[in-house]
Amino acid sequence: MKTNLNNNWQYFDSWSEDIFGNNGGEIVRIPHANKLVPFNNYDESEVQILCGYRHIVNLTVRPSSTYLLTFEGVAHYSEVYLNGQFVGKHACGYTAFTLDITNFLQSGDNEIVVKVDSSYTLNQPPFGNVVDYQTYGGIYREVYLTEKRGTYVDDVFVQAEPLKPVVAEIKLANFDSNAEVSVEIVDGDNVVYSTCYNTQNDSITVVMDAELELWELDNPKLYTLVVEVNDDSYQTTFGVRSAQFTRDGFLLNGKPVKIVGLNRHQCYPYVGYAAPESLQRLDARMLKQTLCLNAVRTSHYPQSQHFVDECDKLGLLVFTEIPGWQHIGDSEWQEQAKNNVHDMIVQYRNHPSVILWGVRINESLDNDELYTQTNAMAHMLDPTRQTGGVRYIKKSHLLEDVYTYNDFNREGATNRKQVCDKNVPYLVTEFNGHMFPTKPYDDILHRTKHTLLYARMLNMVAKDKQTCGCFGWCFVDYTTNKDFGSGDRMCYHGVMDMFRNPKMAAGVYRSQGETPFLDVCFTTEIGDYPECIIGDMYVLTNAEKIKVFKGGSYVGTFTKDNSPYTHLKHPLILIDDLIGDRLVTEDGFSAKDANKIKKAFATIRAKGLNGIGLGIKLLILSLSKKYKLSIEAIVGLYSKYITSWGSSANQITIQAYNGDNLVLEKTVSSAISHTLEVSASHTTLVEKATYDMALVNIAERDQNGNVCPYIAKAVTLRTEGDIQIVGPTVVPLVGGQAGTLVKTVGKAGRGTLWVDDKPIYFDIEIR
Ligand code: GAL
Repeated sequence: MKTNLNNNWQYFDSWSEDIFGNNGGEIVRIPHANKLVPFNNYDESEVQILCGYRHIVNLTVRPSSTYLLTFEGVAHYSEVYLNGQFVGKHACGYTAFTLDITNFLQSGDNEIVVKVDSSYTLNQPPFGNVVDYQTYGGIYREVYLTEKRGTYVDDVFVQAEPLKPVVAEIKLANFDSNAEVSVEIVDGDNVVYSTCYNTQNDSITVVMDAELELWELDNPKLYTLVVEVNDDSYQTTFGVRSAQFTRDGFLLNGKPVKIVGLNRHQCYPYVGYAAPESLQRLDARMLKQTLCLNAVRTSHYPQSQHFVDECDKLGLLVFTEIPGWQHIGDSEWQEQAKNNVHDMIVQYRNHPSVILWGVRINESLDNDELYTQTNAMAHMLDPTRQTGGVRYIKKSHLLEDVYTYNDFNREGATNRKQVCDKNVPYLVTEFNGHMFPTKPYDDILHRTKHTLLYARMLNMVAKDKQTCGCFGWCFVDYTTNKDFGSGDRMCYHGVMDMFRNPKMAAGVYRSQGETPFLDVCFTTEIGDYPECIIGDMYVLTNAEKIKVFKGGSYVGTFTKDNSPYTHLKHPLILIDDLIGDRLVTEDGFSAKDANKIKKAFATIRAKGLNGIGLGIKLLILSLSKKYKLSIEAIVGLYSKYITSWGSSANQITIQAYNGDNLVLEKTVSSAISHTLEVSASHTTLVEKATYDMALVNIAERDQNGNVCPYIAKAVTLRTEGDIQIVGPTVVPLVGGQAGTLVKTVGKAGRGTLWVDDKPIYFDIEIR
């Protein structure tokens, strides 16, 4: 029997022995952040504290039962005390731990006290040197108590690969010489395989010849394995699939798949790591459904089981790794790193989405002694998966199965053969990031370059069949420590901001999906471009072609044919002509002269008036003579077709077509009015094991629906009813977008969030 212990914890923001027996502190719920932090610009020492938690659990203790207390995640070092006695400790902020508290319990009230240290000085990964991410603190994942009677299932490892029987390795605990074990494979309500064992051994291997569907990216079929022994029932989901990194690329179920992913840090504004189930699942959905990725790297640590469960459910591949950042510590530290390999693999190995174990400290140097051991342990604990170990060094000593490389190269993808032996599987695990930090309010050229850098890398990796794929750095902006960031301790490396509002670069990924998508990498505001020069105009779309209209007049139809990114499934489309035939049809030029004018105008547009040579000047003179045009008239033409000062002629409309079907349309023009738009991740909030939280996205959009990136204003938030705002109640729009979090308060009912005068209505259920 499982009892959630997520409510009614007392929190003490500094540790002292007085916490034992103390009824004070602040009443909090788990997931809990040891400190709510501002959006940015705070010192990490604020969360690097030694604090304490106290919880009373009332039980009728049964003598034959075993009581197990599980913490899914406590950042970063914890000691657990039951009724004043030390029970155990855990020195990793990213893996779960379970303590047998049977011998410490009494019937009636029992006091659980947890000492939690989130100091940077801890001698455990990822600490010991600098770390480029905020590590937060607190009991930030769920806590529960399980009661087991007699023999129970301690662990099950399911190995399920195509064309092979399903193998379940079952470990029993509290075993007394004989047990009846039943094993079932369940598909929804149907039992598709069942078997029974009488065992004299506490570990059994069950081999099941069941005909099961494969777990595929577009049909991630999941089954449940149910193991029952005496009174105990244990369930785990699994999927049948094979994942192979080869020197010729990655194969899922024997078929080539180019891995296209992003790195994810698990942080949210204000609450840091302490985001409940629905927000963990939301991130997985954003990665798969909004950003159209097929993979995620859980940089740089194992992440919430809810997140990985959702990856299983959606068909999103996961590369997960042990905690750490460049630094390798002393022998005690390394012991913990090995424990982390063990815990990570044992805790996550039944997830079909997990395709690779990262058994090296991210970007650490070679350490053959340590990494020989981590690799051996990984292969022993899980013979079905390969290992990787993320590095930024070329030709380093490869003890893993896959050369996993962070490719921060100014020129895009480094030639694989310069990085590692050509015969080993190769995967790019990071690119971009600090090479081009981009704030949502950076100017248009900056945002465009950021976008094109993603396109360039994806294109280069798509071209090289052998490279297994690439993970961009990164999914969302993240808060960091003083040695990193943009001065406000924020790394603006995301394709989304920390509220998961998309930046322009997100469109590169989104345009590779199948949901119709259309966005542009330009504005019509020449005032946002240095020297008023609008550079290349790219369109992000998965449509076959676009029709472009300027000031309402048809300019032309453009396809991927002139794209420099032709290896992408949906190459970005380049608009390289904003005039079309109009010089002929509207202005009476001959086709030949119209072409000359177009070329001249294009040069002026690209290089500015000072950049034009004698040839263009002579051309203008000769045309003015031939067509009897004053210089003012020629300037007027330039204005009509290119600059369009203060005129509605600068409006550009793009229609995206598949064949003859118009799929999407977008207009870009000067903003003349704007409105606030508010949406929530979900509006039915459900309290189950603990509170629920919704992410609310806020954007100021112009009359065309485009975000106004430079608008300087704040919005005011307030609630009515049974919800609560997390964080400040006045928030600035940053790059035209903002967000907030709303949380349930333990009551069923209704709640309204007002963002200025815009309401969002929530229903709150308790299940
Ligand atoms: C990498 C590192 C990441 C992050 C990134 C920024 O070197 O692995 O954690 O710091 O750089 O681009």
